[in-house]
Amino acid sequence: MRGIILAGGSGTRLRPLTSVHSKQLLPVYDKPMIYYPLSVLMQAGITEVLVISAPEHLDSYRALLGDGERLGVSLSYTVQQKPAGIAEALVLGGEFADGEGICLILGDNIFYGHRLPDMLRAEAARLDGCTLFGYPVSDPERYGVATVDEAGTIVTLEEKPTAPRSNLAVTGLYMYDGDAVRRAAELTPSDRGELEITDLNLTYVREDRARLVNLGRGSAWFDTGTHDSLLEAAMFVQVLEKRQGIRISCLEEVAYRMGYIDREQLALLGKELSSSSGYGQYVMELASA
Ligand code: TTP
Repeated sequence: MRGIILAGGSGTRLRPLTSVHSKQLLPVYDKPMIYYPLSVLMQAGITEVLVISAPEHLDSYRALLGDGERLGVSLSYTVQQKPAGIAEALVLGGEFADGEGICLILGDNIFYGHRLPDMLRAEAARLDGCTLFGYPVSDPERYGVATVDEAGTIVTLEEKPTAPRSNLAVTGLYMYDGDAVRRAAELTPSDRGELEITDLNLTYVREDRARLVNLGRGSAWFDTGTHDSLLEAAMFVQVLEKRQGIRISCLEEVAYRMGYIDREQLALLGKELSSSSGYGQYVMELASA
């Protein structure tokens, strides 16, 4: 399975923070936002990742993450000329996917949960059609909302319903079989001119081949689209890290623990980050533990 991080969009709700910066490069406490979705993919065992962003920002992602070799993974980059919808990621990533399954994650979604990596690996192994990940929320009318049967197969899926049939919001993490690229290319733009991810997902729902996994109580999910949600996500990371003396979504640590790099490579990365940064210090200590 290959990974795609969609890191474009206009970020209008976060202006002026996003007037010149790409939203997914903004800090979430101690690291750029894109570290969080990238670490999710890496922990799911995915080592080939495509980053998609706007023409004016793609070089910043390249400068930050490079070709991934330092982390033992392969990163490539593609431009999305304008925010023409989340499902366009599958079209833009068609060549990259090369017929394989795809795990698509939105660059501004933050997931945390200690069982998440195992669960994602298990879901990737059993994928048939598409698998979405749901999270119980108090304001489902703001999201795509699903209802499922006992087996986890999606029965209904509605985008921003006025009368939601459940409190299960569809998060920005999606797994697709190799056919999703063709399906995405055949979508017609919605009234707002976008290729809608819900429309793509509905093609699988209609065939009873869409599954929803409830991330549930044991995990946290944030989207960071507003000033408040961005701050809340940062505070969540701060509390967790300070309390436990760990860093979450530290790419260098994930690469090491997943076996993508060895201890020497980890030490080198720590050194480059510098001991004057707490993050750098953490990486160095991991390498010498
Ligand atoms: P949104 O939150 O829907 O949009 P946005 O990020 O442009 O922000 P705003 O609503 O404040 O203008 O997008 C969700 C995520 O998907 C976000 O990470 C941006 C990304 N995205 C793209 O990269 N391209 C797109 O065409 C769309 C629609 C979203």
